[in-house]
Amino acid sequence: MRAVIAPDPGGPDALVLADLPDPEPGPGELVVDMAGSAVNRADTMQRQGFYPPPPGASDVLGLECSGTVSAVGPDVTGWRVGDEVCALLAGGGYAEKVLVPAAQVMPVPGGVDLVTAGSLPEVACTVWSNVFMIAGLQPGETLLVHGGAGGIGTMAIQLAHALGARVVATAGSAEKLEVCRSLGADTVVNYREQDFVAEVRAATDGRGADVILDNMGASYLGRNVAALATEGRLVVIGLQGGTKGELDLGTLLRKRGAVIATSLRSRPVSEKAAICAAVVEHVWPLVAEGSVRPVVHTTFPLEQAAEAHRLMEDSGHVGKILLTS
Ligand SMILES: NC(=O)c1ccc[n+]([C@@H]2O[C@H](COP(=O)([O-])OP(=O)(O)OC[C@H]3O[C@@H](n4cnc5c(N)ncnc54)[C@H](OP(=O)(O)O)[C@@H]3O)[C@@H](O)[C@H]2O)c1
Repeated sequence: MRAVIAPDPGGPDALVLADLPDPEPGPGELVVDMAGSAVNRADTMQRQGFYPPPPGASDVLGLECSGTVSAVGPDVTGWRVGDEVCALLAGGGYAEKVLVPAAQVMPVPGGVDLVTAGSLPEVACTVWSNVFMIAGLQPGETLLVHGGAGGIGTMAIQLAHALGARVVATAGSAEKLEVCRSLGADTVVNYREQDFVAEVRAATDGRGADVILDNMGASYLGRNVAALATEGRLVVIGLQGGTKGELDLGTLLRKRGAVIATSLRSRPVSEKAAICAAVVEHVWPLVAEGSVRPVVHTTFPLEQAAEAHRLMEDSGHVGKILLTS
């Protein structure tokens, strides 16, 4: 099969389209003939040598895919050759054939074509697990989403809006702020020109955000804690602004707040299985009824994965960047 690897760390041109042996499914696994996969920030970090795959995961890049089941290993129930599926992966998505634990396979949600379904697993699982399962966002509460026009951001805005929360989103251009608004953000903040702490307070009568989904890490830590409401939950999922920051525990203590940092990729299969099941139960019906939709900026064939990485690193995209086999 053809697959994209990054044998030596470097820029987008470090990606290599290689010929690798087809994967064989072991117990509890199946093989998906890839129709769609998508680029995630983590892939660009892996390519640069900063984010190695967890032990046992494929060296092939790619954290999600969609396609048709072409082989089923022993002890797999519920899936058959020919089923159209999408899947959350620890790696291996940028390939014509993808090996995946059956527990991380989901049906294609209603109303979504097979290729586009490859853009959904990582953002749906990340947002559902962090914003709803971990931070427990409730209807009527306020969610602050940083990077609202990115892959994660476009899913977080739509899901929180659909489930009755107020949404404040940050982005870096007027065009991207307009996208956030069109997806359901009640308040948008240009992080290059405005103070998001002041804007969140103004939007909530001074209360602050009940939940913050943060992609920046260190550079936003102080301001995020300042923007939290009493009993607010800050969930850090990205470190685009660095790993080491100073935390004002006095402010956090007075607010009875929580700071949580998580990584989906390193969670065990059993936890990913529970997240996938929750996504199928809670998110797929919203996709099928049209209140949450995949946001795809553009599509590249596998052999142009370097172009796809360049686009993401230039932040030239809105939503997801798809790859096809
Ligand atoms: N922990 C996990 O399990 C997990 C899982 C998935 C993703 N993530 C993380 O989530 C983040 C988003 O991932 P993604 O795939 O959605 O990437 P993405 O599509 O590239 O989105 C990243 C966004 O960051 C925004 N951004 C850049 N500087 C910013 C700033 N100073 N303030 C606010 N936003 C800023 C960019 O918006 P502008 O263009 O408007 O600047 C861009 O839309 C990444 O950090 C990724 O590593 C973590």
